[in-house]
Amino acid sequence: MATPPNSSHASSQRWSSRWLFVLAAAGSAVGLGNIWKFPYIAGENGGGAFVLIYLVCIAAVGIPIMVSEVLMGRKGRSSPIHTMRKLAKVSSRSERWSILGWMGVLAGFLILSYYAVIAGWAVSYIWASGSGAFDGASAQAVGAHFDAFLASPIELIGYQTGFMILTIWIVGRGVTKGLETAIRWLMPLLFLLLIALLVYSFNSGGFGQGFAFMFDMKWEAVTADSWLIAMGQAFFTLSLGMGTMMAYGAYVPDDANLGTTVVTIAGLDTLIALAAGLAIFPIVFANGLEIAQGPGLTFVTLPLAFGQMPLGDLFGALFFLLLSFAAITSAISLTEPALAYLVEEYNAKRQRVAISLGIICWALGLGTVFSFNIWSDITFVGGLTFFDTVDYFSQNILLPLGGMLITFFAIWMLPKGLVDQQLGIDSPKLSLGWRLVAGIIAPLGVLAVFLSTTWPLLSGLWQ
Ligand code: TRP
Repeated sequence: MATPPNSSHASSQRWSSRWLFVLAAAGSAVGLGNIWKFPYIAGENGGGAFVLIYLVCIAAVGIPIMVSEVLMGRKGRSSPIHTMRKLAKVSSRSERWSILGWMGVLAGFLILSYYAVIAGWAVSYIWASGSGAFDGASAQAVGAHFDAFLASPIELIGYQTGFMILTIWIVGRGVTKGLETAIRWLMPLLFLLLIALLVYSFNSGGFGQGFAFMFDMKWEAVTADSWLIAMGQAFFTLSLGMGTMMAYGAYVPDDANLGTTVVTIAGLDTLIALAAGLAIFPIVFANGLEIAQGPGLTFVTLPLAFGQMPLGDLFGALFFLLLSFAAITSAISLTEPALAYLVEEYNAKRQRVAISLGIICWALGLGTVFSFNIWSDITFVGGLTFFDTVDYFSQNILLPLGGMLITFFAIWMLPKGLVDQQLGIDSPKLSLGWRLVAGIIAPLGVLAVFLSTTWPLLSGLWQ
């Protein structure tokens, strides 16, 4: 015997129950994407009509890819890199397929480096809102607050560091003590906060308008682009393409039914995205403000709206607490592929690996911090700042490529019986149907999004 098995190896760790896996995966999926992006793109692209299209994309693209990831993770029972190696071996394919695991590790690093910076903004806004900094403030004042905050590297680094330390502390404690404990507390609190905000927004006076913005069937606003946007969102919001779900899948008990489990996760994620929209837009409309998306909506429009409303300080603080919780449960999942790999490969202590990873990620995140102030003039390919470049490369290139290759591998490279057995499929018709959706429709859907988002930049490069 060489080294004794390390108890923190993926192969020996399990979620305590199927439900904890559901919550952990939903925690990864529910993030900034649900709260600052989904409601806006739904409103802009046809409201209820877009919601229907989005559900089709979740079912035809998101769920098949997630099932493939979790299934491969559970079969491999190790970090994505080792899982890919093992699965390639049992299917007599080239071990080069493990490159997929490496791409995931890289994507996780890059995404976490800036996710921590932006999550830090949310944390800082808990205090700012709670202390009444936006009480009755004008649009200019709220905008100026945000600009001044972004212009201060020290403040940004302070919050980024705090968020990173918390993330590393949680993941360093391991799957049951760290991840599960955090998730057991944070997910129920996240649901409660969302319900509190929904009740508040229901009474804001703008509920009808907000509801109509998100749910009226505006088929005339649906374009070909809407389909691409829905597909891209379905993919991103479920945290697919980088092995996160594969890493979490490695801890799924053998007897859990993968189909229903994944459908539950996707359902929770969608429910929270819809609820976020219903909580946010009425508050914006009640104050006659322009709707927006991304940082503008979250850090300017919303604080402005809360500042005008009774109990706005309290509910503003609760909103940013919600956003911080959503971000931390996503952040811990971003570290898992790399962490599990290093622990396995070097038989290292999880805590030590977590700290080293955290330091590297933190250092990389400084680039993002500086993109908003001292380096704002430094741009790379396509005029993108450091932050935009990292964001673009990970989200628009690494994740879609990873997602396409993962389903392709799951359906066309793995022995056919293995997938059917993992999914509990026993009818040939169902098996064929699954191969059609997961092996053809899902990868083609991601390919369409990939080409449509990268083409403008690539064609710009050649001119
Ligand atoms: N799903 C997250 C969100 O909606 C973002 C995300 C994308 C992510 N890929 C990920 C989170 C991988 C964790 C791991 O904001």
